[in-house]
Amino acid sequence: MTINAGILNVTGYVGAEIARLLHNHPDARIAGVTGRSAAGKRLPEVFPHLFAIDLPIAESLPDGVDVVLSALPHGAAAEHLIPFVEAGVPVVDLSADFRLRDVHEYEAAYKVTHPAPQMLASAVFGLPELRRDEIAGARLVGASGCHSAGVILALAPLYASGVIEPQVVADTKTGLSGAGRALGLNVHFSEADENVAPYGLDGHRHVPEMVQELAALAEQPTPRITFVPHYIPMTRGILSTCYARLKPGALSNEPAKARKDMLDVFRGYYRNAPFVHVSETAPATKHVMGSNYTIVHPSVNLQTGDAVVTSALDNLGKGAAGNLVQCMNVMFGLPETAGLQTLGLFP
Ligand SMILES: NC(=O)c1ccc[n+]([C@@H]2O[C@H](COP(=O)([O-])OP(=O)(O)OC[C@H]3O[C@@H](n4cnc5c(N)ncnc54)[C@H](OP(=O)(O)O)[C@@H]3O)[C@@H](O)[C@H]2O)c1
Repeated sequence: MTINAGILNVTGYVGAEIARLLHNHPDARIAGVTGRSAAGKRLPEVFPHLFAIDLPIAESLPDGVDVVLSALPHGAAAEHLIPFVEAGVPVVDLSADFRLRDVHEYEAAYKVTHPAPQMLASAVFGLPELRRDEIAGARLVGASGCHSAGVILALAPLYASGVIEPQVVADTKTGLSGAGRALGLNVHFSEADENVAPYGLDGHRHVPEMVQELAALAEQPTPRITFVPHYIPMTRGILSTCYARLKPGALSNEPAKARKDMLDVFRGYYRNAPFVHVSETAPATKHVMGSNYTIVHPSVNLQTGDAVVTSALDNLGKGAAGNLVQCMNVMFGLPETAGLQTLGLFP
């Protein structure tokens, strides 16, 4: 079976990355791509590195696609996807429009009215490591945000196994492609180079989905997440560092045994997760650049009683286009890893 995939908004960073991944996919072909301002051009005119995908950029997808992969911004995504969802065409969306179950949380975080709140009940949060079975039976998947993927994958084993208190702190250092292709002062070379700054201190939009997904894992007090992202002058990658207080007696008092206990918790949790590598050493964003892998490193500080978990992923890979293709594979009953087994590009 070959899946005919349509890509909405191929001319953003994420759309281009979806096209690059599908080009190497053994069971999918690109049936059509759309763009707004670039409609009428051919894809290699906009992205010369995609010279082998010589497709016209259209205003809409051709009839009969088997799946719609959307890289539109939030709001626009739901508006464009309504007819496909109503027609029963499988959809994976990378915007925030179908990630949250509670429309009020969505509207408070994104400051817009949701164009299709009636569709939220049937949508599934797209992170196969947590929701593989639901994604397999879904027609509408709202793929995880990039920061959320890094933080959720770092914290899920600890939260699900009940060894940490619900108050956690997480920070991320993220590459500038996370801000998308549109121009802005924060990605101006003179202001971004040799510079690090936090943002979203008054409540980042990804926190509600982190809480939603972690809370669904265990009958415990809802997690409270203090989250601060930072842009740093690199192109791709997110390094997440998550700090959580261990419950008294949760781990051995003996450091080597406690470290092993932590690794066992993570290795057990991710034993069927082909794209999560549990590492005994700290990850770096260069270890996953261009790949769909997340490297997770659990560590424990017995002096303070804290677990500190670091994770690294590529925001355009497991944080976006790679995870979307992984969700598509699961929805269509393909091997989860199809088209995605490239290791990180190093150095
Ligand atoms: N970048 C990441 O790391 C990342 C990670 C996870 C999820 N996402 C999500 O993936 C989606 C795409 O992100 P991106 O980084 O690829 O964005 P991007 O590179 O900034 O692409 C956004 C482009 O979409 C087009 N656009 C804007 N409004 C539109 C509308 N109403 N209808 C049609 N096209 C419109 C514009 O291009 P024109 O002006 O040329 O039409 C705009 O430049 C977003 O929902 C984002 O939140 C991004």
